[in-house]
Amino acid sequence: MSVNEWAWWQKGIVYQIYPMSFQDSDQDGYGDLQGIIDRLDYLQSLNVDALWLSPVYPSPLHDNGYDVADYCGIHPLFGDLETFDRLLEEVHAAGMKLLMDLVPNHTSDEHHWFLESRSSRDNPKRDWYIWHDPGPEGGPPNNWLSHFGGPAWTLDEASGQYYLHQFDTHQPELNYRHPDVLPAMQEVMRFWLDRGVDGFRVDVIYRMVKDELFRDEPANPDWDGIFPFQSLIHCRTQDLAGTQKLVAQFRKVVDEYSDRVMVGEVYLPLDRLVRYYGRDLSGCHLPFNFHLLLCEWKASAVRRLVEEYESLLPPGGWPNWVASNHDRPRSATRVTPRQARVSNMLLLTLRGTPTVYYAEELGHESVDIPADVVRDPISLNLPELANSMGRDQARTPMPWDGTCQAGFTRSAEGPWLPLTPDYETINVAAQQERADSHLNLFRALTRLRRQAPALSVGDYSSLDTPYEEVFAFLRTHPGSDSYLICLNFGPRDLQLDVSCCGARAEIAVSSSMKRRGVVDLSGLDLAGAEGLLLRLCGPVEKPDLQ
Ligand code: GLC
Ligand code: MG
Repeated sequence: MSVNEWAWWQKGIVYQIYPMSFQDSDQDGYGDLQGIIDRLDYLQSLNVDALWLSPVYPSPLHDNGYDVADYCGIHPLFGDLETFDRLLEEVHAAGMKLLMDLVPNHTSDEHHWFLESRSSRDNPKRDWYIWHDPGPEGGPPNNWLSHFGGPAWTLDEASGQYYLHQFDTHQPELNYRHPDVLPAMQEVMRFWLDRGVDGFRVDVIYRMVKDELFRDEPANPDWDGIFPFQSLIHCRTQDLAGTQKLVAQFRKVVDEYSDRVMVGEVYLPLDRLVRYYGRDLSGCHLPFNFHLLLCEWKASAVRRLVEEYESLLPPGGWPNWVASNHDRPRSATRVTPRQARVSNMLLLTLRGTPTVYYAEELGHESVDIPADVVRDPISLNLPELANSMGRDQARTPMPWDGTCQAGFTRSAEGPWLPLTPDYETINVAAQQERADSHLNLFRALTRLRRQAPALSVGDYSSLDTPYEEVFAFLRTHPGSDSYLICLNFGPRDLQLDVSCCGARAEIAVSSSMKRRGVVDLSGLDLAGAEGLLLRLCGPVEKPDLQ
């Protein structure tokens, strides 16, 4: 199959923008849509193919916009629909796609559907949400927990019933067992698809169906005693029978339009994750694979993960990888700053669509957040876990240059969250200038990925080496150059014999950005924390390869 026959969401790279933190254009300290428009040249220079925006809808912002008060509008903080249309047009003119964040599992408690639902027990929208009488001894109907701490139920005093929320108390859950809810959400999808958006990243798609009998969840015997939500096994609220049917109904709407994509947020073990491709691929095009985020940073563990995932993919199911997002520590913090380059090289050379989180191209680290500026509901509700589990740390403003406020804003009050203290060195302008910067490494990798069919759509196979800290794999595609990727997850300098791939190869990209030229594959130097992307000379045989 020629590369042209692959869909854009297969061969391309997705870049996640956290709009509040990307670029402020109106000097209120918050990023906005005009700010994104102003930075499209930069985005284009990253050789990414699609932009995914975290929510920009009207919202009281109890969960930074994942509490949607109106699915068909734009929060004034970010702009308005007219600015949105302009953004979409300019993104398309720049040859990129735009994905919206769809949050169908819950609304804000300020959404008019919920206001109606809550207004009385016999309101026609009452059962659009999940209401329940108190348990037999009073109190919540069962033991279900909110992800953000405390019970998953909040009492509505006026009607004497509890409503369900797996997240913040301001995020009541919609009831997809009610026949009118799905059609209403499908109309929301059409609203954006008609405007021309290229698809959706669908929030917590695996948690949309709940046990009809509201049975308690069992205690988790493996709980480490830290994050309260993990004290239960979520067999009554996650990945329930019926979820796939619902996912397929969302997908159907996406398929009413041509060339759109549906990405789903699914935190589940691999064998259950791959079911979200759906029967005969009728589910998500890309059920997000978050396992790199959760995997120990060890070559053997990552190799095992890649191979297990590859082996579980359904026929025709296209892989994808995520190395960081707005809910987890940044990858440079997770894998150590020294390994951040290896991590980017891994993400951009594996088989499958990579999703890159903004500022990861700079090797940006998570930022310590002083208690008095915390915004994340997890940190607010569970202050003792703010440092370990808080999410503000990964949501700080994009550092554009070394000037005061890093070129993110000129607001007198400063940005909504603190900048990285390193912004004078870790910023776009400075890294643009330095040939060996993270940014230039990122661009070299994305440029090559775009040019080389073996990297964007080619096959994957790994190599055995005698070193446990090395992950080496091949990417090949008929009729195109083949590439060998050697990643050193450890600190020691090593020499590898990878002559099974030929006598010599040319360094296409080195993580240090300093090495070039032809290397001898029988004695390949690989420094500590180094990654090499090598173009193989001549056809590859695959003797020792698995
Ligand atoms: C998803 C989002 C997260 C949000 C939660 C509730 O996990 O990624 O940021 O808090 O859903 O909407
Ligand atoms: Mg602004």
